[in-house]
Amino acid sequence: MKIRVLGSGAGGGFPQWNCNCHNCKRVRSGEMNAKRRTQSSIAVSSDGSSWLLFNASPDIRAQLEAFPEIQPRQGIRDSGIKAILLIDSQIDHTTGLLMLRESTVPLEIYCTEMVKQDLSTGFPLFAMLEHYCTVNHHPVHLDGSGFSIPLIDDLRIHTHALKSKAPPYSPHRHDPHPGDNLGVVIEQISTGRKLYYAPGLGEIEPHVAQTLQEADCVLVDGTFWRHDEMAQAGICDKLALDMGHLPQSGAGGMIEFLNSATTKRKILIHINNTNPILDEDSSERKTLDEAGIEVSFDGMEINL
Ligand code: MLT
Ligand code: MN
Ligand code: ZN
Repeated sequence: MKIRVLGSGAGGGFPQWNCNCHNCKRVRSGEMNAKRRTQSSIAVSSDGSSWLLFNASPDIRAQLEAFPEIQPRQGIRDSGIKAILLIDSQIDHTTGLLMLRESTVPLEIYCTEMVKQDLSTGFPLFAMLEHYCTVNHHPVHLDGSGFSIPLIDDLRIHTHALKSKAPPYSPHRHDPHPGDNLGVVIEQISTGRKLYYAPGLGEIEPHVAQTLQEADCVLVDGTFWRHDEMAQAGICDKLALDMGHLPQSGAGGMIEFLNSATTKRKILIHINNTNPILDEDSSERKTLDEAGIEVSFDGMEINL
């Protein structure tokens, strides 16, 4: 299985257009050993030509241009993207669908009923796209049963509900429903190898812990180092858990959990621009290195 990290940043990317925080300022001035990041998305394939896109970031145009394997190969209009799975309806995970409106083949979009509702009400992307291209919606159920996707050979997808948050614009932002956020296992049928992908993870519930243990590689929520990171940076008083993101540090944090997991590769994704791990010379990054936890970057390729 081939996995391409198209974007490793959280909403806003790194640096964020209007942000003058310690990190954003220093990466712009070149004082910091850090990589710039576009907004969160990955693509997965078993053969390197037919790709399943996970989330569609507002930065998708540049992400596809930086990735020759997904670019047009035949005919006047073409793409390696054969289907799209949305793990939630957040702006940083869905706005890129607007950038795919030139598609001459139907967009095959897999998402839950809750995500479909958000994208038909608070952010009516589906209705807008109908004026440009055909959208085929495929419901994703939460009963754990796996499903395969036509044109995506040799991969089987299993999804489960996560405790996180619907987006701020959602009619049910403060009334969580199963299906607002997904964790996804992508299994290669021929090899049995499994990737677990959960860029928005607010709580390690027992079913999440179990799934993480069984995966060969996990790509999980790396948004914040501290619970009060945004407040510490003087940006706003939103707390990590209130935004649906489990911070890495502290008791009950992501590092503590990953340390207890036997999974071979543990990788963070969806890194917010305030997170000190972006600084590759920071003590926080050293803590991750010592724990064997990797930080994904734009263009990272993982072969499972
Ligand atoms: C989140 O995951 O919480 C989002 O990145 C927030 C946003 O899109 O602004
Ligand atoms: Mn996000
Ligand atoms: Zn910043």
